[in-house]
Amino acid sequence: MPTIESILHETRCFEPPHPFTENARIKDRATYDALVEEATQDWDGFWARRAREEITWITPFTKPYRGDHATRHTWFEDGVLNASVNCLDRHLGAHRHKPAIIFEGDDGATEIWSYLRMHQEVCRFANGIKEKGIQRGDRVVIYMPMHPRAVVAMLACARIGAIHSVVFAGFSTKALKDRIADTGAKMVITADEAVRGGKTIPLKQTVDLSLPKITKKSSVKTVVIMRRTQADISMKPGRDLFWEELTHGQPDICPPEPMGSEDPLFILYTSGSTGKPKGILHTTAGYLLGAILSMKWVFDYQSDDIFWCTADVGWITGHTYVAYGPMAVGATQLIFEGTPTHPHAGRFWEVVEKHRVTTFYTAPTAIRSLIKTGKELPKSYNLSSLRLLGSVGEPINPEAWIWYKETVGENRCPVVDTWWQTETGSHMIAPLPGALATKPGSCTLPLPGIFASVVDETGHELGPGQGGLLVIKKPWPSQLRTIWGDDERYRKNYFLHGESGKSFYLASDSAVRDEEGYFWIMGRMDDVLTVSGHRLGTMEIESSLVASPGVAEAAVVARPDDLTGEAIVAFVVPHGACPTGQAASQMAEELRQWVTQEIGAIAKPREIRFGDNLPKTRSGKIMRRLLRLIAKGEAISQDTSTLENPAILEQLKESL
Ligand code: PRX
Repeated sequence: MPTIESILHETRCFEPPHPFTENARIKDRATYDALVEEATQDWDGFWARRAREEITWITPFTKPYRGDHATRHTWFEDGVLNASVNCLDRHLGAHRHKPAIIFEGDDGATEIWSYLRMHQEVCRFANGIKEKGIQRGDRVVIYMPMHPRAVVAMLACARIGAIHSVVFAGFSTKALKDRIADTGAKMVITADEAVRGGKTIPLKQTVDLSLPKITKKSSVKTVVIMRRTQADISMKPGRDLFWEELTHGQPDICPPEPMGSEDPLFILYTSGSTGKPKGILHTTAGYLLGAILSMKWVFDYQSDDIFWCTADVGWITGHTYVAYGPMAVGATQLIFEGTPTHPHAGRFWEVVEKHRVTTFYTAPTAIRSLIKTGKELPKSYNLSSLRLLGSVGEPINPEAWIWYKETVGENRCPVVDTWWQTETGSHMIAPLPGALATKPGSCTLPLPGIFASVVDETGHELGPGQGGLLVIKKPWPSQLRTIWGDDERYRKNYFLHGESGKSFYLASDSAVRDEEGYFWIMGRMDDVLTVSGHRLGTMEIESSLVASPGVAEAAVVARPDDLTGEAIVAFVVPHGACPTGQAASQMAEELRQWVTQEIGAIAKPREIRFGDNLPKTRSGKIMRRLLRLIAKGEAISQDTSTLENPAILEQLKESL
């Protein structure tokens, strides 16, 4: 396999900004290097020391790592703990009245939930679900809107040792039904309706459609409903009950179930861009450790922070950086029910100003759509409380990164581009913002204890500038343990067994390192293009297009070509209205010239199509697989109902 060529040359580099470094937890490069060195010398001892310091144990562990260094891993195996105790009980001393959650409703109403209240709600709810027969090891599906009670439901499961599986509330019947069936859940926790962007979404109705009419035929025996809108919903006697009915009269103390480190904490399905969703299984202690350390290392958590991760609890980002990470470190976090642009395009910035948010973590797709609203909008709000900005979910194009840093962060805030996956549980490659210089478009260096590399298909390490497969060479605590119910797929999918006899965790992303060892993610391996014998990642060509003044977003794919093997087709979302006719041809030609100038003729798109948007998953990832079909002129036969915006496919098909 020839390596993947890196064609984009980004040279901008920013040292950690000065006022930030003064109070940062890790203040300089030398401290970061020392941590990396400690982990290199004594890898499992490094993690064991952190686990002893950061986790509240019921029974301390004696064995740091046990496993085969290939596909089987256990961490802190003989330790006993409870995740909800780590997220709640241990903050009930001096911090019992500290706000755990600031809830900003879609309509702008605000509620403050203290750690004490969270603890009481979790205990009452945990007692309630226990009374309904939920026991340690049982699966519970949570299908809820962004609301403090979604976190309550998750932590209540953790309290009694039940395994939660959160299904994103934007998914409809089929997705929910499949996940209920795959987990064999005994209970579903939902709401009458969700409210987002001024619209209501009938969650309970979707649950009803996802369950068999006869309860006997279903694994699900109980449905618990939180009232969010008081909408009229149908209630099935004997199966359905409201949240208040379940918790009525329950004591606000619930003894935590003593859980082994390796007991499952949750199953989360990855939407994945191909194939059947996979139920990623995470266990208790290792996952929690990853969440806590990354809160401290990457988000530089400080006790007076107002932390805002915009991800839904239905995604891994919402698990690690809403439900577990912020709660485990005792942070005050904001949970936002609404959308970035409702009731106006400045809503995100308004919320930052209103609640004096210090740490803001969102996805490149949101950043790019906010760029479309112009520079002036963020400037009309007081964003001076912000001290750190984060990005996750996709490669962030350098131009979007710069916009984020300048316009939102006012050049004061470091930007942390965090590379990780549902499977990795927590951040893997990301800057420690007080210690590492950042480069736009690079997620920088691995966290201490994470041994990442770029290799070819035989597992040989590649040098600087050579693109290849991103792998993790040693196990780490927050790693997935298997795919629920499909261990074989887990073993087949996730590992590269190199010629040296060593096994690596295979991320399925392509990446390249620069001379300083910085990682640059080039896209998913499935999306690599081969043009005239050159293998190119999608990220760099897309970034070049986005750097052109008229372009808000871009996605490139390949279609077969007799001459060059594959030809590049670019789908472009312009800043303003979509050009048509002559104007479209002219803009396409200008962009082709632009890419040629910026990165060379090899990356010049053969064809450029314009649209108002790109097809995206509900978590904001561009579905290049569908764009490939459009580029080839083939029919799209698969189910597109899980897309954020299925209608866009028609526009793009006709855009030729
Ligand atoms: O391709 C990478 C991309 O998102 C994938 C993981 O997706 P998911 O499991 O849904 O988790 C998203 C939240 C962690 C990765 O394999 N990805 C995620 N973060 C980045 C990224 N690509 C580039 N840069 C990132 N910072």
